[in-house]
Amino acid sequence: MKSMKELSFTGKKVLVRADFNVPLDDDLKITDDTRIRYVLPTINYLVGKKAKIILCSHLGRPKGKPDPAFSLKPVAGRLQALLGQPVVMAADCLGPAVVSAIEEMGDGDVMLLENLRFHPGEAANDDDFAKALADLCDIYINDAFAVSHRANASVEAIVKFAPACAAGLLLEKELTAFNTAMETPKRPLVAIIGGAKVSSKLKALYSIVDKVDALIIGGAMANTFLLARGYGLGRSKVEPELIDDARKILARAGEKNVEVYLPVDAVTAASIDQQTPGRVVKIDAVPAEAMILDIGPATIGLFSRAVAGAATVVWNGPMGIFETPAFADGTRGLAAAVADSKAFTVAGGGDTVAAINEAGVADKLSYISTGGGAFLALMEGDPLPGVTALENSQK
Ligand code: 3PG
Repeated sequence: MKSMKELSFTGKKVLVRADFNVPLDDDLKITDDTRIRYVLPTINYLVGKKAKIILCSHLGRPKGKPDPAFSLKPVAGRLQALLGQPVVMAADCLGPAVVSAIEEMGDGDVMLLENLRFHPGEAANDDDFAKALADLCDIYINDAFAVSHRANASVEAIVKFAPACAAGLLLEKELTAFNTAMETPKRPLVAIIGGAKVSSKLKALYSIVDKVDALIIGGAMANTFLLARGYGLGRSKVEPELIDDARKILARAGEKNVEVYLPVDAVTAASIDQQTPGRVVKIDAVPAEAMILDIGPATIGLFSRAVAGAATVVWNGPMGIFETPAFADGTRGLAAAVADSKAFTVAGGGDTVAAINEAGVADKLSYISTGGGAFLALMEGDPLPGVTALENSQK
């Protein structure tokens, strides 16, 4: 992939695909601007080079037609505040009004186009839509790691039509961090996988078991592995149809000498409501009427010791229902262990990053990815269409 640092930008119209898919509250206020802040180095670099910066992104899933609930206007406001310079908000991402607004831009100016997914061509990876976007610019930059697993027009097809293209600073940083952790890691490499379902991470589990030295499994997905090992888990969430897969993954780990860490105790309750206090039990003593809702203190200790011995840690998925304070200690405890570790530490996934932020240790990790699905796709060993398109454009 060509890096944007190899190109000259002065006076050029530069279309930057970003992922400004940020969470909004009911009043359409941004509740977490991480994804905006992470793109600032690219924007500031281009401002410094006196480019005309045309930013574009999706927000939510507005089904191919305009919907004010998914407007990028709140992002323009936040960007303006963060950049300390005006950001012109376009009424659309295409069309004669957008073309003439771009013609009016001065060097170093910044414009944000309206939600790309207001047009069906974006999600359809449509060539005509991609070409119309490419025609807006002299140079196309993909700085949208978090959507690069989607074959969308502004991510993939556009590369065929853009006069020149390159990877943005954030895209490069994300890929470098992931590759440092998973492809060329300092060993031992420890992966922490959590979350609700084995099914959503099955492919990633099969892929990483061949790469890591130790695998920590927490969250409700650990239940299916515990079931495969013959434990009775009361009313805990399990995926019985995946027991065979859990057994295969454990067997594969055994063949590869990968140490697998599963919970040895758990915080259980009869219900998830705030009123029912959690009760810590050993993993072989889960009451018939109880559900496992978090890892227990002995497990936090066990997992933390495994993390302390690592030279590289990759983390995806919480250890329990961390949104409920009674069941948040496991995820918080592990966040503290990852933060204290001297290892190269990378975390990705919306819930994981929210839990790390909530624990207040975000600045103690080596890298926090902006990707949810894109981070998981890398863990699954899948190429990202947006990245492949950029690589192919160099051939
Ligand atoms: C994300 O939030 O993971 C990306 O912005 C992709 O969004 P999508 O899942 O709606 O394609």
